[in-house]
Amino acid sequence: MEDVVTDGPPAAAIVTPDSLVLPLAEVGSMGTVSRPTGVGELDRVLGGGLVAGSVTLIGGEPGIGKSTLVLQALAQMAEHGARCLLVTGEESPEQVRARAQRLHALPASLLVVAETSLPCVLAHAGTVRPDVLAIDSVQTLHDPDSAGAAGSVTQVRDGAARVVRYAKEHNLATLLVGHVTKDGALAGPRALEHVVDTVLSFDGDRHHALRMLRATKHRFGPTDELGVLEMAEQGLRGVPDASAMFLADRQPGACGSVIAPVMDGNRPLLVELQALVSPTKAPLPRRVAHALDNSRVSMLTAVLQRWASVQLADNDVYTSVAGGARVAEPGADLALALAIAAAANNRAVPGDTVVLGEVGLGGEVRQVAHAPRRLAEAARLGFTRAVVPQSTPDVPGIRLFRVTDLCASMRVLQKAPT
Ligand code: TYD
Ligand code: MG
Repeated sequence: MEDVVTDGPPAAAIVTPDSLVLPLAEVGSMGTVSRPTGVGELDRVLGGGLVAGSVTLIGGEPGIGKSTLVLQALAQMAEHGARCLLVTGEESPEQVRARAQRLHALPASLLVVAETSLPCVLAHAGTVRPDVLAIDSVQTLHDPDSAGAAGSVTQVRDGAARVVRYAKEHNLATLLVGHVTKDGALAGPRALEHVVDTVLSFDGDRHHALRMLRATKHRFGPTDELGVLEMAEQGLRGVPDASAMFLADRQPGACGSVIAPVMDGNRPLLVELQALVSPTKAPLPRRVAHALDNSRVSMLTAVLQRWASVQLADNDVYTSVAGGARVAEPGADLALALAIAAAANNRAVPGDTVVLGEVGLGGEVRQVAHAPRRLAEAARLGFTRAVVPQSTPDVPGIRLFRVTDLCASMRVLQKAPT
């Protein structure tokens, strides 16, 4: 007999969800298929290549090489049989062709269209049915259905959201180029980061050939890989041995120069830190840091004066990283402090020695992460000695001088022959 409910709330409608309840252990990994771009350093940062249906934003300052990188990647993928559509909003197809000729990259399945209207871009994509779509740049896209002027934050964000929807619906690997200014203020990339799957930042010193590629967000892989490239006459070239390149023009044993094994993401890199100390009569001596953290340099000069009797009060202190790298980690503290001390005392640090360690406000030398990997990289490049924090384990091929504080590290170097 059936129950007859006469009172209370109405019975819930029967729903049949599409979703599945699964034991967590039986859930597969993402099962994504990625297509290598053929640009080795880009694939390294992407953790393999571009994932179908994913949208990757490449952000960087104007002139850094974004269009070159995208064109090289598309050309390589087209060479390997992928149908690639490049939408150019900033340059004419003739300009793109000129760049492609310079790169010797004109495969037949690389298609180009000059277009800035978003509905037209999507219509072209619908006709061409590419495997890979690239839009250069997202700031030039204009969507008549969306409010705001072309290039405004609303336009760029709504436009990107539509591209993302399209990419998901059509399982299309998509690259978006976005310009960023130094402070990230320009409408675009910052506002897009949560819309896209992957955000790559492409930067470097425009006056140097060196370019760094990093993932700041990545739904399908690691975010701590560093890609190093060099802008050459015929496009971007991967730099597998970045340390050797950073050290190429160094004068071993030069006054005020110290080599530090730093980490950039997952990658150990050897960089040359330089200091110059020069007398001044100015009431406020200058503390100048190029490609280094300003406040750390000020802190280290104070620690040197207080704990190591290095006289810097009537001196300007200039510090820099040679070769276009940027150093922002405390693991380079001791090397930087010793470079300043050496410059102040007109001494040289031996050319076969690297220096590693964080420096505390009490002048103590603290341990840093990944010391063995950093020191192995130093040994690989022929360095035979390292000044390191007390707790550092032995590393084959390099002799360690373990120190507890700044003064001890200066004594070690004074004893060492240059
Ligand atoms: P570009 O890719 O146009 O930069 P973005 O799209 O980020 O604005 O390239 C910028 C610079 O790179 C440009 O000044 C010329 C230089 N370049 C080379 O040095 N070699 C090359 O092979 C190419 C294509 C460009
Ligand atoms: Mg460009």
